[in-house]
Amino acid sequence: MVKPLRKAVLPVAGLGTRFLPATKAMPKEMLPVVDKPLIQYAVDEARAAGIDQFCMVTGRGKTALIDHFDIAFELEATLAERSKREALELLREEAMPPGSITTVRQQVPLGLGHAIWCARSFIGDDPFAILLPDDLVLSKTPCTAQLAKVYNETGGNVVAVSEVPREHTNRYGILKVGETHGDIVEVTGLVEKPKPEDAPSNLSIIGRYVLLPEVVKYLSQMERGAGNEVQLTDAMAKMIGHTPFHGLKFEGKRFDCGDKIGFLEAQIAFSLARPDLGPAVREFLKNYVNA
Ligand code: UTP
Repeated sequence: MVKPLRKAVLPVAGLGTRFLPATKAMPKEMLPVVDKPLIQYAVDEARAAGIDQFCMVTGRGKTALIDHFDIAFELEATLAERSKREALELLREEAMPPGSITTVRQQVPLGLGHAIWCARSFIGDDPFAILLPDDLVLSKTPCTAQLAKVYNETGGNVVAVSEVPREHTNRYGILKVGETHGDIVEVTGLVEKPKPEDAPSNLSIIGRYVLLPEVVKYLSQMERGAGNEVQLTDAMAKMIGHTPFHGLKFEGKRFDCGDKIGFLEAQIAFSLARPDLGPAVREFLKNYVNA
């Protein structure tokens, strides 16, 4: 029997240096795409996959993320008093059930693997999803739900993958690929940030994972990898051969919102996809494209 997927870890302890000065006093994950912060997209996506327990791995200066999921009592009272019903409903729809979100602190940002290890008590003996909020996916079926489906079928680890240009393999975790069945590929090896000439493929992991709790055992070894950081990819690689491990060529488009160009493209794509904004955005874009 495959254990149901109920938990998600959201690592948000990074420094966000590529977005300074915006991220000097505000966490990167609070940057909005159109009108919703990145962290809210991640939580909504996980909830759409049936996940109802969350752990944010935070660091210094991340209090806004915790406040975002609290009830804004004064704001709600003021909105009610002024009969701003729509705004009030929006806040209430997004509210999290009490006790469904917890936080742990990663005191020093020693890498993504270390951030996940910090959530080990929350993970316990259960499978869990990881969503990196700065990766945003625009798709028909939410990306985590696509991964959850494969997890339910295989009972093993599943990572979302997409093709990247060969010359960019040194920015990502790259797969060594075994058998392929449609959109699902067997993972036979993983390398973090390989040089293009050493990369075993051009299939990269994006910021969506469903992992078995055994990964914590390997993270506990605290081995330093690329960039002298504790890399999640290295710990995942140690699970290959012991548990099923697959990559899913997910349906949808991924935007790297930790990068300026990716973030700007996401603003355009997400606003064009919105019925209330799409036509106006399409119209004004013509002025810039034709200039
Ligand atoms: P990034 O590589 O994007 O790093 O982390 P960053 O610090 O957020 O941003 P830049 O590069 O300085 O602009 C990928 C994800 O891993 C988390 C980040 O919060 C982000 O979600 N992370 C990274 C941690 O939680 N802890 C770490 O030690 C490193």
